[in-house]
Amino acid sequence: MTRTLTVLGATGSIGQQTLDVVCRYPDEFDVLALTASRGSDVLASLCIEFNPSYAVVGSQQESNQLRSRLNGKAKSTKILVDNDEVEDSRVYNADVVVTSIVGAAGLNPTLKAIENGNTVLITNKEPVVMLGPMLRDEVRKHKTTIVPVDSEHNAIFQCCSSKSGARYECFSPIDGLRRILLTGSGGPFRTIDLNRLQAVTPEQAVAHPVWNMGPKISVDSATMMNKGLEIIEARWLFETPADQIQIVVHPQGIVHSMVEYIDGSVLAQMGTPDMRVPLTFGLFWPRRGESGSQQLDLFEMSAMSFEPPDFIRFPCLKLAAEVARCEGTAPAVMNAANEIAVEAFLESRIQFTDIHTVVAHCVDDMGNDDCESIPQVIEIDRKARNIAQKKVFQLSTG
Ligand SMILES: NC(=O)c1ccc[n+]([C@@H]2O[C@H](COP(=O)([O-])OP(=O)(O)OC[C@H]3O[C@@H](n4cnc5c(N)ncnc54)[C@H](OP(=O)(O)O)[C@@H]3O)[C@@H](O)[C@H]2O)c1
Repeated sequence: MTRTLTVLGATGSIGQQTLDVVCRYPDEFDVLALTASRGSDVLASLCIEFNPSYAVVGSQQESNQLRSRLNGKAKSTKILVDNDEVEDSRVYNADVVVTSIVGAAGLNPTLKAIENGNTVLITNKEPVVMLGPMLRDEVRKHKTTIVPVDSEHNAIFQCCSSKSGARYECFSPIDGLRRILLTGSGGPFRTIDLNRLQAVTPEQAVAHPVWNMGPKISVDSATMMNKGLEIIEARWLFETPADQIQIVVHPQGIVHSMVEYIDGSVLAQMGTPDMRVPLTFGLFWPRRGESGSQQLDLFEMSAMSFEPPDFIRFPCLKLAAEVARCEGTAPAVMNAANEIAVEAFLESRIQFTDIHTVVAHCVDDMGNDDCESIPQVIEIDRKARNIAQKKVFQLSTG
């Protein structure tokens, strides 16, 4: 049976890899909506290829851009601006929604997808980090099925067992868990001389040795803030205290994470580092589908190695591991400050090592309050961005 699909952030690295899988299955998926911030050439060509019912962009100007780029093609695609409430509900009402917008900008779209109560594939980790248990409450309220497709969380999900012996569901405890072993490659600066870190360029930071990703997550991987965000993401998706989540640096990126049980069994999910694998898992779950990824050749593979994290080299990871233990607003503060700092680094306004300075300043300044409501977290996010912008300005003007 054909299922309708909406891809939020369709023009990005994850969005395009999702559609790369989908185009192998023309009888399986009917693309309902593709969203992006801009009416770019990429969005125009995706609309022509997939003929969605809706294309959603961030403003009227971007809508005009897209219309002119389509130049009369994809006639059945209705172009919408993101704040068009009535039509929005139709956009999110797909059988499967993939959340692949980058950053906190994905928060409202993720909530709308959850409200529709269908199957939501989560790669956009920042809203999980920001909302934590409030996201869980929304998922329960709307009886939504969540499949994590961030590669590590997908690996954990595949290794999970539930108390009843039935299929494991996110936002519930893992039965018999001793700890989660969350792997990460260590990024491009795992072995660089520490004295050279300050002067690394945005080009060097986004050149990830294993994964080909969008610029923000690539910089997060270089600082290992990404792994810190992932501790918090795992903390909530798998109802596991942060102290039971161990980071394991695994440069080859073949083991995507592991679950250790109290009987001593350690289950790992392995595969070539290709996001189409977890995306295909999510798109077909609970069945399996072909992803188009290369087969893992164990005989060709060099040895696999595992190291503890280096908190001196990666102070953002240390900070995030501490913040992960706070169950209040501190994760949202850290996330907002990090988004501002990474953007400033990518625009060469601050240095690589300043990213930690900005984030630590904000976390210190704003502390940790109880999480009361989603609007409160959105307000906290706004305040943290202001404080981070001021710190960036101070650092960039000497
Ligand atoms: N890339 C990976 O391999 C990977 C792996 C695991 C998890 N993730 C997570 O997946 C998410 C997406 O990452 P990515 O690497 O695919 O990012 P990306 O390549 O930078 O793509 C971001 C997407 O979000 C859209 N977008 C940006 N700002 C927006 C806004 N204000 N409103 C609406 N849409 C907006 C972009 O549209 P425009 O093109 O129009 O700007 C684009 O479609 C992130 O949360 C990341 O942590 C990524």
